[in-house]
Amino acid sequence: MKVDVLLGLQWGDEGKGKVVDVLTPAYQVIARFQGGPNAGHSLHFEGKKYVLHTIPSGIFREGSINIIGNGVVIDPVILSEEIAKLEKDGVDVQGKLLISKKAHLILPTHRIIDAASEASKGKTKIGSTLKGIGPTYMDKTGRNGLRVGDIVSGEFEERYGRLKEKHIELLKQYDFPYDICDYEKEWLAGIENLKRFRFIDSEHVVNSLLQEGKAILAEGAQGSMLDIDFGTYPFVTSSNCTAGGAVTGSGVGPTQIKRVLGVAKAYLTRVGSGPFPTELFDEVGDKLGEVGHEYGVTTGRKRRCGWYDGVVVNYAARVNGLTDLAITKLDVLGCLDEIKVCVAYECDGKRYTTVPEHQSVFYHAKPVYETLPGWKCDISGVRNFYQLPREAKDYVDFLEQLAGVRVSIITVGPDRDQTIDRYWK
Ligand code: GDP
Ligand code: IMO
Ligand code: MG
Repeated sequence: MKVDVLLGLQWGDEGKGKVVDVLTPAYQVIARFQGGPNAGHSLHFEGKKYVLHTIPSGIFREGSINIIGNGVVIDPVILSEEIAKLEKDGVDVQGKLLISKKAHLILPTHRIIDAASEASKGKTKIGSTLKGIGPTYMDKTGRNGLRVGDIVSGEFEERYGRLKEKHIELLKQYDFPYDICDYEKEWLAGIENLKRFRFIDSEHVVNSLLQEGKAILAEGAQGSMLDIDFGTYPFVTSSNCTAGGAVTGSGVGPTQIKRVLGVAKAYLTRVGSGPFPTELFDEVGDKLGEVGHEYGVTTGRKRRCGWYDGVVVNYAARVNGLTDLAITKLDVLGCLDEIKVCVAYECDGKRYTTVPEHQSVFYHAKPVYETLPGWKCDISGVRNFYQLPREAKDYVDFLEQLAGVRVSIITVGPDRDQTIDRYWK
């Protein structure tokens, strides 16, 4: 019937997993369209926290169909661990998960190349999650990769061996010691485990489901500023996290997409290296990190914290063709007397209200701030926009104005229930 897309607008960890989980009752199908185990999507409900890396965030809903699309890269070890945890919690993963035959496999040697490449970069390292994402997408575009469909092709072992040898040759250029034996054993066991799942041609399945009248939510990973094309290159990931990725990563045509919901945190965080004009190095930044529990769910790294950047979100709204905005973690700002919002950058005497074509601006941008009063209270129990304190409503309205897109959803806590639906339904 229709496809809606949900994606991140900043540098990842905006709270996408939580919002997908909230919205899933209205969709029969949830499809992840890019990224891989570099992602960590947290969901809280019934007093428990769950973290998903490769599996779509609809997996907990009864009767849902969860598709790992062709644009995703899969590490069979991490995916198998994720499945085992869910099955232990009583989730019927086998009955609800479909995996695209065209999704690429992350080999043990891809992880080593990732680590060797990062180590060789020294100070200019990307801050990769070291899950092998970049090297796997390189083999995909270089037309050397192994795909899920190859697992059952009859010549899998031979092809795996050939690609591994190629990687071992490549690794000779790095002075990087490694041993893949243990991980390789786990990897081969992971491949065996995946054979019990249904491998599909996601483009056909997704379109058939649409014809049957099913509603599909396409779930993005990472965020628009980590997009390989539109992000802060080279400090980005290796896939298209923006709306176009939903088309190429699942097989739906652009005319099937109805709404594009962008998720943005009420302040800003980033993990790994790269420019971050509104980053805070003071006690306010520390406070946001502490109150917001800003530690990466995939790597455990401390997230860098800063003020909301209206320039970034305005840009992301454009490149994604956003129809709706979700503002998450508004409750966290309740700890501050006043809140700053970046409304423009100043660079070489020029003022920018959206990211200019020359992204070098990011490196010298001086943020221009507008200061808004805080509300200094706990809003985590509020479920209706009109019950928010006036300052919080004004803050949301201000972000809406900067983005030029209506704020349809606001979240005020990690739990499924801690959500304000303003205009979405
Ligand atoms: P994702 O990668 O975009 O899915 O986001 P992550 O799960 O990596 O990071 C978001 C973190 O914020 C998780 O720990 C969530 O449980 C938490 N979270 C999500 N929404 C809210 C919210 O409204 N308030 C608070 N305090 N925490 C939230
Ligand atoms: P979710 O889906 C935040 C960052 C890494 C690094 C850069 C490249 O949870 O929002 P990679 O491993 O892809 O080569 O790393 O991208 N990164 C993320 N940051 N959230 C994520 O995913 C991320 N996935 C990758 O920290 O800076
Ligand atoms: Mg995350």
